[in-house]
Amino acid sequence: MAIDTVTSLPWSWYSDQEILRLEQERIFRRTWQYACHTGPLAESGSFVACRAGDVPVVVVRDVEGSLRAFLNVCRHRGSLLVEGEGRRNSLQCPYHAWTYALDGSLRTAPRADREPGFDPSVLSLLPLAVDTWGPFVFVNPDAEAAPLAETLGDLPDLVARAGVDVDALRFRLRSPFALAANWKVACENFLECYHCQIAHPGFSAVIDVAADAYTLEETSEYVSTQYGPLRDGGPAGAYDPRGEIGRGQFHFLWPNVKINIAPGRPNISIGPILPDGTERTSGFLDYFFAPDADEGWIEELLAWDDQVGVEDRALVARVQAGVSSGLLEEGRLLASSESLIRHFDRLLVRALGPP
Ligand code: FES
Ligand SMILES: [Fe+2]
Repeated sequence: MAIDTVTSLPWSWYSDQEILRLEQERIFRRTWQYACHTGPLAESGSFVACRAGDVPVVVVRDVEGSLRAFLNVCRHRGSLLVEGEGRRNSLQCPYHAWTYALDGSLRTAPRADREPGFDPSVLSLLPLAVDTWGPFVFVNPDAEAAPLAETLGDLPDLVARAGVDVDALRFRLRSPFALAANWKVACENFLECYHCQIAHPGFSAVIDVAADAYTLEETSEYVSTQYGPLRDGGPAGAYDPRGEIGRGQFHFLWPNVKINIAPGRPNISIGPILPDGTERTSGFLDYFFAPDADEGWIEELLAWDDQVGVEDRALVARVQAGVSSGLLEEGRLLASSESLIRHFDRLLVRALGPP
């Protein structure tokens, strides 16, 4: 279907099981998504279980020191292989103890020697694509995917030019979230700041969210960017935004990665928006800060950002309740203030293809 410039996606798409199935198949199984950071993957044998859409993934540091990603599913009867993160010389399934080497090959399967014709060489873990940008690990369930750099485009340069050296930052914490809304509601909410003035007073005390100050840009096909300058009149908000980073940058990497840089000392937060069924979404943000950033300042920034998260959680739940109500078919977007939503919706419609 084609969508015109100011009409929202059909509201039925925000609770439709078949649409979600198509999204998993045609979007989440073939795009680069933020998985984790390299911190827990420093040593050979270290692993992290993560997700790309609904695809369970394990990222492993192999004996040669390379990162590998596999479908986190045992080739025997399909049990999830590992949970959480850790370090092992091999990956053993907890169900019947099939054991895989760090290169994914099946090393041992109890009683396989009693099984004529058992060929371990065709029972390796399924390899997926994995790549990094600085400390950020991305996975793509499509093993034949074009390199991550093609999707990122100018984004690493843009972040570097803003004064953030991603390799020099220190991981601080992962902040998880759960939303009572379809994943697209969460993405669209992130892609505009039209709601900031009324819904985010704390954010708007620091960032100038006026239509003429706060800008939206399609940095590339897959990267949407919002620039939020500091509000005139100096620091009046919950944290002091003065520092090397002169303005906020809020990037969205298709289909579901948020990348935020707040004004002030070098910092970045990055993480995915993941569907959990049609009307539930979860995700997390990994926060990184300059190693010499003041502890009190970090705490204040995190509290400021958390407050935005609390406010957004309520907003997206209200949208979900509204778009699920069934009597209206669609909404009306603002072509300028919601241009990045239109772009997201177009990419979504294109990816889903003909019904
Ligand atoms: S399902 Fe993994 S060993 Fe049986
Ligand atoms: Fe918001």
